[in-house]
Amino acid sequence: MRDKDFDIKNPKKKFKKTERVPPKGYDNANDFFEDMYMDEDMIWMGQNTNHLQDDTISDAMIEAIKEKNYCKYPAPEGFSELKQLILDDFGFKDLEVLLTAGATESLYLCMQALLEPEDNVVLSDPGYFIIGDFANRFANEVRYVPIYHEENHYKLTPKLLRENMDENTRMVILIDPLNPLGSAYTEDELKEFAEIAKENDLYLLHDVTYKDFAREHYNMEDYAPGQTLTIFSFSKIFGMAGLRIGGVLSSKPIIDAIRNAVVNDLGVNIITQYGAIAGLKTKPQWIGRIRETCFENQRLIHEMIEPIEGVFLPVYPSDANMMVIDLSGAGINPKEMSNYLVGKKLFTREGEYTSEEFGDRYLRISFSIPTEEIKVFCEEFPKAVEALRTK
Ligand SMILES: Cc1ncc(COP(=O)(O)O)c(C=O)c1O
Repeated sequence: MRDKDFDIKNPKKKFKKTERVPPKGYDNANDFFEDMYMDEDMIWMGQNTNHLQDDTISDAMIEAIKEKNYCKYPAPEGFSELKQLILDDFGFKDLEVLLTAGATESLYLCMQALLEPEDNVVLSDPGYFIIGDFANRFANEVRYVPIYHEENHYKLTPKLLRENMDENTRMVILIDPLNPLGSAYTEDELKEFAEIAKENDLYLLHDVTYKDFAREHYNMEDYAPGQTLTIFSFSKIFGMAGLRIGGVLSSKPIIDAIRNAVVNDLGVNIITQYGAIAGLKTKPQWIGRIRETCFENQRLIHEMIEPIEGVFLPVYPSDANMMVIDLSGAGINPKEMSNYLVGKKLFTREGEYTSEEFGDRYLRISFSIPTEEIKVFCEEFPKAVEALRTK
């Protein structure tokens, strides 16, 4: 029997989602993003996307489109060549690859396939909250651990994990490097997380979406095989965010369990797969240039921020293609800052997108864009601080 409040025209929301207040002047976030997207003069520092790729990947996709092979369905689990290239990129053997429409879909599938209603999941705050929203749909609780502190180097530490877990903890989410701060885990930290996971039967979800921007990167899988889910994406270093491809790597029993939850049973966009193959094959030719530009861009931002009173970079250098600028000492509301900067054709993100507790303190900017555009930001930002400063 349906409950008496059942209303076919107004279904109850079965799932909770973090609500965001739409930006000033907009009824909803989608209209805002569309306006940003349509504005060709907007400098794109708000989505951690990469605008530094040359034509190598796009040329491969144009060739694939000309062949018109897209009229066939792809092999449902993806091209074996692509899957092998992904494993080689990580240096993994004997693991399974599941390709999905972006890392996002894999994150959802992992939660759906592996979490039970009595479980809890540990995630840092700040962090990437889409993951928490997904976990919330299937688990009893998401434990957001506050990490915006210098003493724990702005990241979840094994000590913080121990303090925040209990016998119902089933999964720990390690975003490495971390969106939004750019903090990354050391090899010793990963080993300690692995020990905790083995002692307590936990899954370690290692989201390495930004790994290729890091000065050093280590694979959790090497220390906790059989319990690690490595989430990867083609959206960032490969500059393919709009094409929607990513996935999850894990042992065969785990991927088999996740495969049973798959919705997109007819496979991942075939043109995108050609682009991803070209991207992986040519990576050694372009990755050095992109990384160098990102390091130089964040150096310029650091130099610009240093003399500004009340404003600082919690993590520098960042190991991702983004960083956080703390505005609290200048008494500036990050929302006002991002609105002000949109007026100067600079699209950035206020902190509330990545933190419940600390979102009113910082602005997040990504810097994988041409250096000339970073110079525009460096010119406008100090003026913006002086215009908005209340302290
Ligand atoms: C940590 C993290 N994981 C996953 C994603 C989404 O990746 P994709 O575009 O492959 O869905 C993002 C996007 O910003 C992210 O920051």
